[in-house]
Amino acid sequence: MPEFDVDELLGLGVELAQAAGALLVEAMGRVHGQVTTKTSGTDMVSEVDRASEHLIVEALRRARPADGILGEEGATQKGTSGVRWVIDPLDGTTNYLYGFPAFTVSIAAEIDGRSEIGVVTDPLRGETFAAARGLGATCNGSTVRCAAKDDLATALVATGFSYDADRRRAQAQVLTGVVPVVRDIRRAGAASLDLCWVASGRLDGYYEQGLQPWDFAAGALIAAEAGATVGDLTAGPPSNELTLAAAPGLFVPLRQLLVRATSGGS
Ligand code: IPD
Ligand code: CA
Ligand code: CA
Repeated sequence: MPEFDVDELLGLGVELAQAAGALLVEAMGRVHGQVTTKTSGTDMVSEVDRASEHLIVEALRRARPADGILGEEGATQKGTSGVRWVIDPLDGTTNYLYGFPAFTVSIAAEIDGRSEIGVVTDPLRGETFAAARGLGATCNGSTVRCAAKDDLATALVATGFSYDADRRRAQAQVLTGVVPVVRDIRRAGAASLDLCWVASGRLDGYYEQGLQPWDFAAGALIAAEAGATVGDLTAGPPSNELTLAAAPGLFVPLRQLLVRATSGGS
């Protein structure tokens, strides 16, 4: 594994996430007419998504020119240092464009393809979640821990839906197997926030199919470092197939429930 300075990467991630978060807040309400769609009619992108990514990417290129970059809005750089930054410059775009107060900037630094640093900033709440592998997770510098929960019936579980209509149909089907079994369901509209809220115990669990790397690269590390169990539907790491994060005692029952619900049972 290449040598890297955790404090430097974490400090840079926090600084850039907060700067981009300030840009998002400053531009709120001024984006009408600048919205286009991407993968489907419901998948919106605005000038603000691009401006946020531009701010982060330009600063990274100046500070660490040898690093790789993967940004949702198209930034890619191969890099030679072994470090790659994975960026969602505005997670929760739909919320943002409606003024629904749940959106973030999410930045992770991967080393050899695995997140080592994760930062998610929620600029409206003034909360910045951060984690470094093996060093725990924090919110505004204070340690966060996930809930100690093992009972599905009293679990508050979040999920999300893809922009693709066929996938949504399947996700709605899975949900019919989950809703009757848990305390309640939340759909906040920003995957990175869902993962950070599992980390801080505001949610007991979260699952979503169809996420992209920038949606979960930072949040999944933050949840794991806060003590949550994080994985997919089988025994692998979070993936496009499924990102599941839950209090350790809840992870297996929730995964079993999802396996049953995915195959049509409940
Ligand atoms: C979306 C949000 C949403 C999730 C979608 C993501 P975006 O990201 O995280 O909560 O359900 O799957 O695509 O488009 O707002 O960056
Ligand atoms: Ca996203
Ligand atoms: Ca986004």
